[in-house]
Amino acid sequence: MRKVLVTGGTGYIGSHTVIQLLNAGFEVVILDNLSNSSKGVVARIEELSGTGLDFIEGDVRDHELLRGIFAKYAFDSAIHFAGLKAVGESQEKPLKYYDNNVTGSIVLFEEMMRAGVHKLIFSSSATVYGDPGYVCYSETTPLAPINVYGRTKLIVEDTLRDLKKAEPRWQIALLRYFNPVGAHISGRIGENPFGVPNNLMPFISQVAIGSRPKLMVYGNDYATPDGTGLRDYVHVEDLVAGHVAALNTLGDANSFLTLNLGTGKPYSVLEMIGAFERTSGVKIPYEIVERRAGDLPEYYANADLAKEVLGWQARLGIDRMCADTWRWQKTNPAGYVID
Ligand code: NAD
Ligand code: WQD
Repeated sequence: MRKVLVTGGTGYIGSHTVIQLLNAGFEVVILDNLSNSSKGVVARIEELSGTGLDFIEGDVRDHELLRGIFAKYAFDSAIHFAGLKAVGESQEKPLKYYDNNVTGSIVLFEEMMRAGVHKLIFSSSATVYGDPGYVCYSETTPLAPINVYGRTKLIVEDTLRDLKKAEPRWQIALLRYFNPVGAHISGRIGENPFGVPNNLMPFISQVAIGSRPKLMVYGNDYATPDGTGLRDYVHVEDLVAGHVAALNTLGDANSFLTLNLGTGKPYSVLEMIGAFERTSGVKIPYEIVERRAGDLPEYYANADLAKEVLGWQARLGIDRMCADTWRWQKTNPAGYVID
């Protein structure tokens, strides 16, 4: 049985990944410090998968803890989701972000190395591309992030490229996510941001449930068809399927993968509002406000390489993204606090 360490496994993308891994027959151990997630997620994962898992509450920066974990379990791979992801906060608290995202990654890689575990999937982000001057990003688009969060991702990517050169036995996939949205079809797990959501979809769904009065739409004067920003939203279940495919592919011919995970089809903020209203039957009050600093008008993935290398392609469209988000939000109006 293949055993995977999933850091950040109680978080949004991690929790969905763990279910698919368990369903695919992997054994899973989660390490998460619960800085942006709830322990109640574990019981829901077990309920949905019908399988048990080990959960360890702790920090990926804790060398001793990691050493103990690697001594206890015979892992053959790790998926590293643990990290902080709020772009605005990263600009205000750069040390917190470099420490958590960069130091945390290095401690993990060192302890993997010590334990002889050399297969890794790392959560990277389309943010590593910055603002290249065009809107469709392939993996060869220059890397020039424009915020601290993006730079933490690029530093870890660079670290892994250097590590692979020095230690060829490592098998590594850098997966660059575009805009993950949606939730498990059961409505039992989903995105549960602490505090005010930074991202569009959780904000829309909190307006829909009545916990926020209206959505602020950041600008309608971009050079896009309806003036609002265009993004490549990808359903979390599709995104996660890309991880399972990458894990299965690493170890075959390819041992260093760098792949965009997106749909290639962008939608505007107003289209997302419209789709959410259509699938939920709930009106989303909104107000057009100033552009948000650092936002780009438009970008989306060229995801051809993931199709070629993994046979992966996003399958779920905008209506499923909205319907699944709404099912989760409606049945868990306050997130996981009931657990
Ligand atoms: P999330 O916040 O829901 O999950 C991250 C998890 O990591 C949380 O459960 C948090 O408690 C945990 N964590 C954070 N720092 C930790 C530490 N030092 N030690 C142990 N656990 C720690 O976020 P997510 O949306 O599931 O994102 C997962 C990964 O994907 C992150 O690395 C993020 O940067 C990356 N990513 C996310 C998006 C997105 O829009 N959601 C896009 C691109 C990349
Ligand atoms: C989407 C669109 C906003 C909120 C960020 C990170 C990126 C990645 C995903 C981690 C934009 C508009 C948003 C709101 C709005 N995360 N919007 N009102 O900015 O594309 O990407 O999350 O790696 O790194 O930068 O996503 O969901 O914040 O915004 O009008 O309340 O919705 O202006 O056009 P973004 P988002």
